[in-house]
Amino acid sequence: MKRKLAAGNWKMNGTNATLGELQTLTAAHPDPRIDILICPPATLIVQAAALTADGPLMIGGQDCHTAPSGAHTGDISAPMLADAGASAVLIGHSERRENHHETNALVADKATSAWSAGLTAVICLGETLAQREAAQTLDVIATQLDASLPGGATGANTVIAYEPVWAIGTGLTPTTAQIAEVHDFLRARLADRLGEPGANAIRLLYGGSVKPANAAKIFAISNVDGALVGGASLKSSDFSPIISALEQA
Ligand code: 13P
Repeated sequence: MKRKLAAGNWKMNGTNATLGELQTLTAAHPDPRIDILICPPATLIVQAAALTADGPLMIGGQDCHTAPSGAHTGDISAPMLADAGASAVLIGHSERRENHHETNALVADKATSAWSAGLTAVICLGETLAQREAAQTLDVIATQLDASLPGGATGANTVIAYEPVWAIGTGLTPTTAQIAEVHDFLRARLADRLGEPGANAIRLLYGGSVKPANAAKIFAISNVDGALVGGASLKSSDFSPIISALEQA
């Protein structure tokens, strides 16, 4: 049975003072029926991993370089994340695609590098508002999926996160039908490449303004296996009810 996944992306937020949230979450969910992943900023990964080592929380990075090491000032490699205690890494988040001009090909190379380091790659994709309004959503998703996901994806090494750019940090969410359309499409497209058992093993997360108030509704949608949560993952008082909603879905 595939376990659902609640993932939190802290983005460029959090200092040592924030780490207490992880202990609060662990205390609230000592034996969760789902997987829980927190991706703090890189500066906190070592401590976050140490703090959560004996509990159910998994720790992830927010990005990695394609190379395992080398002259890349300011970058962090997948083996370094693994060494720091991460078990997963977000790849191709729309903020990376936008702010750092990351292409689908680069995202695919990063995913390969994450796999080589033994990390689960959480590959992010999603359309902009202009693309949705131009009725290009499924074309954009197809192109991103095809070109961002390297050959060799399995349920163990890959998670796909659908995050419509216009829903991130805006308080806007797609309708139930819009989320279902993209998630059903992703599952079918994965099945074309991997066969049905392979496709069904890969968790599909929805991300973009997921909150305690809308989580249960989103988790009831077909082919939604969890969420990638930004703002509402920063405080355990927000993230904990989202975890509980996913456990009950
Ligand atoms: P928000 O939940 O803050 O909209 O962010 C979503 C996101 O980008 C998670 O990666």
